[in-house]
Amino acid sequence: MKTVVITGAGAGIGKALTAEFLRTDYRVYACTRSGTLDVTAHPNLTVLELELTAEQSIQQVKNYFSSNKIKLDLIINNAGIGPDINTLVPERKSFISTFETNVFGTVFFTEALLEFTGQGSVIFIISSLMGQMDRFAVADSNAYRMSKTAINMYTKSLSARLKNEQIQVNAIHPGWVKTKMGGTEAPLLPETSAKNIVALAQRHLPSGTFWDAENLRQMNW
Ligand SMILES: NC(=O)c1ccc[n+]([C@@H]2O[C@H](COP(=O)([O-])OP(=O)(O)OC[C@H]3O[C@@H](n4cnc5c(N)ncnc54)[C@H](OP(=O)(O)O)[C@@H]3O)[C@@H](O)[C@H]2O)c1
Repeated sequence: MKTVVITGAGAGIGKALTAEFLRTDYRVYACTRSGTLDVTAHPNLTVLELELTAEQSIQQVKNYFSSNKIKLDLIINNAGIGPDINTLVPERKSFISTFETNVFGTVFFTEALLEFTGQGSVIFIISSLMGQMDRFAVADSNAYRMSKTAINMYTKSLSARLKNEQIQVNAIHPGWVKTKMGGTEAPLLPETSAKNIVALAQRHLPSGTFWDAENLRQMNW
């Protein structure tokens, strides 16, 4: 049975991913800030507490995988925040919290878990169209956009570093999804986005590439 660890599994896309991977017969390690998840218990589900802005919390998850000798087939860095989405002028407090979670959290959580991956493992970094440089259109949401551009660069850099180990690393845009972050006007349900991301996880994608899960197509950076 394949194993997946998902961050931000307590709500939105992460929660839907947890349900979809369980349906697809994965062993799921769902990381939530509370250490609990409001779903029916499942024999293949383990819920772990994770606060990405706390080094100690990342270390505890690492210790769990280490002491249980767990090998990871898939890591999904899904957790993210966007306190400055739709605001025009950069503001320091939003920058700090956004970078702490979306960038430092994603990078150092991934680094902590690399030792549990191996040949054939896949790392998905949930990014966003809003971090895309190629089709930049609106001058808002600076901290959020820049955080996603930053993790796109980490995707490229990590994929180059892990090339010889044959570990695949991809940035994924989940679509515009009806969640706390995406808002009520978003066209996609979290369940639909999760199905699309699971479908991408079943395919071999070239490492170091950026994918739109909604249309199952590769994106420019
Ligand atoms: N929704 C969209 O339209 C859309 C579009 C493009 C990209 N994305 C990306 O998709 C991912 C999931 O977003 P979503 O729409 O599902 O948002 P969401 O409903 O707001 O869920 C975000 C999740 O991240 C967790 N989280 C936030 N800060 C954290 C931290 N410091 N440590 C650990 N977990 C933390 C939250 O935990 P709590 O529940 O405890 O707060 C929550 O479970 C994000 O990376 C987002 O940028 C979303």
